[in-house]
Amino acid sequence: VAVEYGLEAPFDVEYHESIPSTNARARDLADEGKSDVAVLADEQTGGRGRLDREWSSPSGGVWLSLLVRPDVPPAHAPAFTLAAAVAVTRAAREAGVDARIKWPNDVVVSEANDSPSERSSDDVVVSGEDSAGLAVERKLAGILTEMEGEADRVSWVVVGMGINANVDPADLPSEARPATLSAEAGAVDRRLFTQRVLEEFDELRGEPRAVIPAWREHATTLGTRVRVDTPGGEVVGDAVDVEFPGTLVVDTGDERVQVTAGDCEHLRP
Ligand code: BTN
Repeated sequence: VAVEYGLEAPFDVEYHESIPSTNARARDLADEGKSDVAVLADEQTGGRGRLDREWSSPSGGVWLSLLVRPDVPPAHAPAFTLAAAVAVTRAAREAGVDARIKWPNDVVVSEANDSPSERSSDDVVVSGEDSAGLAVERKLAGILTEMEGEADRVSWVVVGMGINANVDPADLPSEARPATLSAEAGAVDRRLFTQRVLEEFDELRGEPRAVIPAWREHATTLGTRVRVDTPGGEVVGDAVDVEFPGTLVVDTGDERVQVTAGDCEHLRP
């Protein structure tokens, strides 16, 4: 049941204490013809992540889906995912967390930024890398964008943000290497945090091309060596740029490959 949440935001906010998935609810609202709605929940019982994975959403998080109807072609929709990553990153940084964006849309905290007291003495981590040469980053937030559209214009876009805000890390799957705002910088006021995310997203959505420089500013992926598992095969090289609407440019040594989708790992340089 939606209840009053008292947010001053450029969206109609629908708050649920518990709901299966805010993205599913936002899609239903899209079918009803609604727009500019933010669906927010304290807990999700059937949260979904990218690649149809489950997304653990215990009480204490910010589980948020924005329904928008931008006047853009479907090919530009990835820019809204990047805009959400920038909005969450800016809000997290304001809250005192050294958050950065891992392509395409994970908001992460580097292990090297942890206070030493949080590490156990037998930890194998040395300056932000694990023994396999992968950079060690823990995930603060993930974004799942869904859309429907014609050839030349989107009908609607639902941008779902899963932010581990005041969640107990013990309630999250450890293999997901989760980070939480509360563990990094103390419990946040979720109402104010959400308001900042909505304001930042609202500003960015008006000028999708301006999202790219904002994204670059907070990126952890650029300048690192990456392995990207793409639908067309594995691409390994140096991540040199991100271009509108969210394409990663990887220099393999032989050529520059433009990657539009895939799972990205950061490697030892
Ligand atoms: C990812 O796999 O990284 C994306 C996770 C997205 C989770 C959010 S939580 C709010 C919204 N509702 C969902 O069911 N999923 C998204």
